[in-house]
Amino acid sequence: MKVTIVGAGAVGASCAEYVAIKDFASEVVLLDIKEGVAEGKAMDLMQTATLNSFDTKITGSTNDYSKTAGSDIAVITSGIPRKPGMTREELIGINAGIVKEVSSKLIEQSPDVILIVVSNPMDTMTYLVHKTTNLPKNRIIGMGGALDSARFKYRLSEALECPPSDVDGMVIGGHSDTGMVPLTRLATRNSVPVTAFLSEERLNQVAEDTKVGGATLTKLLGTSAWYAPGAAVSGLVQAIACDQKKMFPCSALLEGEYGLNDLCIGVPAILGKNGLEEIVEIELDEAEKNKIKESAEGVKKTNSLLEI
Ligand code: NAI
Repeated sequence: MKVTIVGAGAVGASCAEYVAIKDFASEVVLLDIKEGVAEGKAMDLMQTATLNSFDTKITGSTNDYSKTAGSDIAVITSGIPRKPGMTREELIGINAGIVKEVSSKLIEQSPDVILIVVSNPMDTMTYLVHKTTNLPKNRIIGMGGALDSARFKYRLSEALECPPSDVDGMVIGGHSDTGMVPLTRLATRNSVPVTAFLSEERLNQVAEDTKVGGATLTKLLGTSAWYAPGAAVSGLVQAIACDQKKMFPCSALLEGEYGLNDLCIGVPAILGKNGLEEIVEIELDEAEKNKIKESAEGVKKTNSLLEI
């Protein structure tokens, strides 16, 4: 199993580290445009192999795509992250060109590759890759909901004063401060609905804190986060590599599901060896349906800025 990660920045390197530690891939190639950075991070990570007990071989490359040939899965994290006060949508100008070029170079070397798009604005970048490559739709997946759901569960566990592992919950919709739809009604603590423990007001607060989860960290860090994003991407990579048939909210190209068409947005999906194997249509109530419709309108507005 060969995994390529383009963009050896904060998220790309974190993802490489989690993939290596989980030890399911034989090879990870980190590629970056900045001279020496990918090679340096790969070497640094390889020097953790005996400390962290993994056999994954990590190599780095400065923009030499021949090194990525034969990749089963490729993750695209190349591009610029947001700074405090910026929205993800503001990154479109620079990142669209980068994502388009990187995806085409990856496919040239690995025609059977499954692509995971991370660069922001992620739903629009995922849509761009669908529109500009000939890959079947199951082989292009956007990562956002897995991270947003992890942040939702963290906020729920904080409100419930319980370990995060007791909590389950999901965020669907667009990966943006206004587009996320945390499904508070369906969230559970040890299989009991959290609505049994938390007031509507407290749950609304949890939802709001979740939606600005990335912005809160960007303000604290001066740039966007990397540990949870890297871990979330590695979860998707593992589900595909190990054919886990595991459900994650992912940005998928919709063709009528949830009453939506011709956009990529976060919906629950089963991931396995074929990539995005199935979109799961969960029963939403009227308020949730309206929220996802509104979220889709926001994503489409950003998509309209693309020059395809
Ligand atoms: P970073 O600045 O640390 O790393 C980006 C890397 O991409 C840099 O090393 C840069 O040299 C490289 N790069 C730029 N153009 C390239 C090209 N043409 N080819 C190869 N490499 C190139 O940024 P960070 O924090 O790793 O974030 C990366 C992207 O991921 C950003 O767009 C950010 O907004 C996004 N992001 C998305 C998340 C999600 O949930 N979808 C979560 C966190 C970040």
